[in-house]
Amino acid sequence: MKYLLLALLPVVTQASEITTQRQEELIYLLHQDCGSCHGMTLKGGLGPALLPDILQNKPVEFLTATILFGRSGTPMPPWSFMLTESEAEWLAVYLKNPKHDEK
Ligand code: HEC
Repeated sequence: MKYLLLALLPVVTQASEITTQRQEELIYLLHQDCGSCHGMTLKGGLGPALLPDILQNKPVEFLTATILFGRSGTPMPPWSFMLTESEAEWLAVYLKNPKHDEK
């Protein structure tokens, strides 16, 4: 008897839950809304720079939690009202490893 186990294995990963269109929206949000504090090119302003070099030693979970819940006692606001956990995680991964050329 033949088992079709392979066909049943879930192939969905966190990142693929987010459509290309939503990814573009998230990148727009990052430069506009997050950029108002972190700088349009994420080099820092009121908030610290969010560049890959600076974030490389910070775990994705830590950055995701910062994005979702903000940091109390600092101006970093929580974004859980407009981002899901996987979207915040996608942004954290993106910040550590931007996949496209920054303008
Ligand atoms: C009102 C200003 C403001 C806005 C808007 C803002 N941030 Fe922040 N953010 C801060 C500040 C200030 C800190 C530093 C907090 C601290 O002192 O620990 C911070 C910290 C962070 C960190 C942690 C950086 C590190 O090195 O640990 C991440 C990641 C981050 N912000 C992502 C975002 C993202 C993504 C957005 C948009 C969805 C955003 N921020 C919008 C002010 C802001």
